[in-house]
Amino acid sequence: MVTAMRWRIALLIALLLALLLMLLPDLAAAADVDRGRALAERWCVNCHTVSRTPPAARADGLATLPAIAADPRTTPATLRGIMSAPHGRMPDLSLGARDQDDLIAYILSLRPN
Ligand code: HEC
Repeated sequence: MVTAMRWRIALLIALLLALLLMLLPDLAAAADVDRGRALAERWCVNCHTVSRTPPAARADGLATLPAIAADPRTTPATLRGIMSAPHGRMPDLSLGARDQDDLIAYILSLRPN
């Protein structure tokens, strides 16, 4: 009787651990998007509207990050290329690989489904 109960508890714990492992990658991805948003608000906002629901479009018509995300030609590779070389009057931000990954994750999270 007691042994059967122990087995059930052990099984339950194993199931919970398996569930946790399945959820962990999602948690990591969410953290990257948040970090990417913070980076965009720091480094890109001077020239690009970075939020999903901008209060107004920019008068100079410069692409907003949601518009860049919505463009079907945008891929992680094109974004990486643009961020790796100075573009427009953009200063060389020397963004590291992790910053670029997080910015890419944030920008692509703005893509409409
Ligand atoms: C100093 C101004 C400035 C800053 C800061 C800046 N950009 Fe840009 N960006 C531009 C200009 C101007 C263009 C238009 C293309 C060009 O002139 O090369 C552009 C174009 C782009 C494009 C291509 C848009 C398209 O239509 O395909 C992407 C993607 C982009 N920027 C991403 C970023 C990201 C991500 C950041 C922050 C890490 C950033 N930019 C920061 C000025 C800036």
